[in-house]
Amino acid sequence: MVDDRGSQKRRGTGGGPQLLSSIVASQVATHRPYGGVVPELASRSHIRFITPVIRDALAKAGVAPSAVDAVAATAGPGLAGSLLVGLTAGKTLAYLLRKPFFAINHIEAHVYAAFLAEPTLKPPLLALVASGGHTELIAMPRHGVFRILGRTRDDAAGEAYDKAAKALGLPYPGGPALEKLARRARREERMPVARMRDGGLGFSFSGLKTAVALAAPKTRDRAALAAGFQRAVIDALLGQTQAALTSTRSRTLVLAGGVAANGALRDAFKAMTAERKVRLVVPPLALCTDNAAMIACAGWYAAKRRRPDRLDTPVRASWPAGSPLHEVAA
Ligand code: KG4
Ligand code: ZN
Repeated sequence: MVDDRGSQKRRGTGGGPQLLSSIVASQVATHRPYGGVVPELASRSHIRFITPVIRDALAKAGVAPSAVDAVAATAGPGLAGSLLVGLTAGKTLAYLLRKPFFAINHIEAHVYAAFLAEPTLKPPLLALVASGGHTELIAMPRHGVFRILGRTRDDAAGEAYDKAAKALGLPYPGGPALEKLARRARREERMPVARMRDGGLGFSFSGLKTAVALAAPKTRDRAALAAGFQRAVIDALLGQTQAALTSTRSRTLVLAGGVAANGALRDAFKAMTAERKVRLVVPPLALCTDNAAMIACAGWYAAKRRRPDRLDTPVRASWPAGSPLHEVAA
């Protein structure tokens, strides 16, 4: 749940949205025995938790359903079954309350998490979104406008983390477990960092993932392998982001998505932006990994700027940031 901060007229807070409550129903325990997300179990969990989560979010915010001004829900990209549950709940709520409805892009919402963290934040900015499904450098010239400058050609950074972690025998979810193991390392195994032959702003992590999978059964020093993997991922993300900062001349950088929860990554980006005198905004951990607050924040800005979406808006398993939903093929 987010609210108008502008109405409070507090100086320096910018007038952006204010977070009232954020409820996350974690499915980690459900998927852990399988070592990854099982789509069918994910949508069933969504069905089970959607109503209590909405109820909790309203209760914790101290807001009666009748006092809600607008409803926002994710329409994509992601697993169709899970998207359907959330989108249907959002549209139903909007219909029952007779309030405007806004369909939100999940990747754009990861960028919008930064606007919750920093009320004074304003576009233009550059964003690196690194999650389990996406690794993208995105220019945001103004609210609601997103241009993808580069993306991964194969695995997403988070996916590489999860697969490398699995190869190292670490429990799901792999990202945080691998980070913890790497922290214990006394040395770093040298790992390959993919360079884009076309000089573009893309990424590639599948070679790195395979290198870990091949080395893991033979190594006596798993921590060194984990640290080497993490170094290679961070070098790739850092290098391409620096190239994008140079080419766009952006003075503001947002680091977003689940992988931005990584402490070593945060530190590397802090050092790089301090040196370049670029403003860095990284949402707090809870707003980096998937959450509904960032969807509400994107909805708040959408409501300021554009007309609501129709209640027959469909889900889109694949929906690039910046593309109008109605132009995306089913
Ligand atoms: O954004 P997110 O919560 O969900 C998606 O939209 O994908 O991102 C989840 C991804 C997972 O791949 C997870 O392993 C990774 O973010 N992740 C991390 C860390 N915490 C979560 N990766 C590296 N280090 C972490 N501390
Ligand atoms: Zn996400």
